[in-house]
Amino acid sequence: MKLGQVTRFLRHLALGTSLLMVLAGCGDQKDRSDQATKVQSQDSQVDSTGHQDWETVVEVLLHPRCLNCHQLEMPLINEGSPHIPRVVRGPDNMGSGTMRCSNCHSNQNNPVTNAPGAPGWAMAPITLNWSHMSSAQICNLLTTPQDNGGRSPENLLQFMSQNPLSLWGWNPGGKRQPVNIPHEKLVEAMKGWIAAGTPCPTEHTPTD
Ligand code: HEC
Ligand code: HEC
Repeated sequence: MKLGQVTRFLRHLALGTSLLMVLAGCGDQKDRSDQATKVQSQDSQVDSTGHQDWETVVEVLLHPRCLNCHQLEMPLINEGSPHIPRVVRGPDNMGSGTMRCSNCHSNQNNPVTNAPGAPGWAMAPITLNWSHMSSAQICNLLTTPQDNGGRSPENLLQFMSQNPLSLWGWNPGGKRQPVNIPHEKLVEAMKGWIAAGTPCPTEHTPTD
């Protein structure tokens, strides 16, 4: 299975690093074995608990490309600046009055107006506003269907791997920075987190 391969790869990496240090003649024996132990204990965590996978997932969820639509009342642009002109969610998450999202946002990025676009462009439902939440709170929200609009972990995985609004994060157009974690890595992390039983960090743990 995939995670097994990753683990083996990391072990090789750890061994390779130690070997390099021997060849380069730097670091004493103790340093090297300490490092190897550290890498090994980290990668066994990757394997069994799913916590490392969650860290990857939440890093994407908090990326501006994703967060800019997952807001309370108004979308944001770029690294979190106000959307000008001012637009609001409205009753159907697609704007209000004459300021409809679809007036300016289409199915694709528009290089002339610089408006980004993807099919279904709208603000995320209010239940999915995690812009003010900690990693633990986001995790609890996503794993509690009563709070998140009835979404299962498999729904989340499907959205993140296939939905055009999510995929747009890796093809945002203009000068926008795409999500910094490769899409494939996100999908693997989601699968690993789900396979581990969707564990959440505890509330008081700092999210580093
Ligand atoms: C243009 C606005 C927009 C952007 C950008 C956006 N989302 Fe969303 N997001 C939405 C909307 C709208 C929904 C609700 C979709 C639905 O219910 O069908 C949603 C739903 C979700 C869900 C719940 C999916 C489900 O139905 O189970 C997740 C998870 C999610 N988004 C993650 C992301 C991630 C990760 C990114 C960035 C890579 C992202 N979103 C970018 C608007 C956006
Ligand atoms: C009057 C036109 C107009 C309307 C209406 C409009 N937008 Fe925009 N929007 C733009 C333009 C233009 C940009 C690009 C701004 C820039 O990057 O400088 C933009 C950028 C964005 C971004 C930034 C993406 C990013 O990560 O940088 C989001 C999110 C967004 N709009 C969501 C919405 C939503 C949701 C609605 C409806 C509630 C909406 N917009 C309504 C014109 C509009």
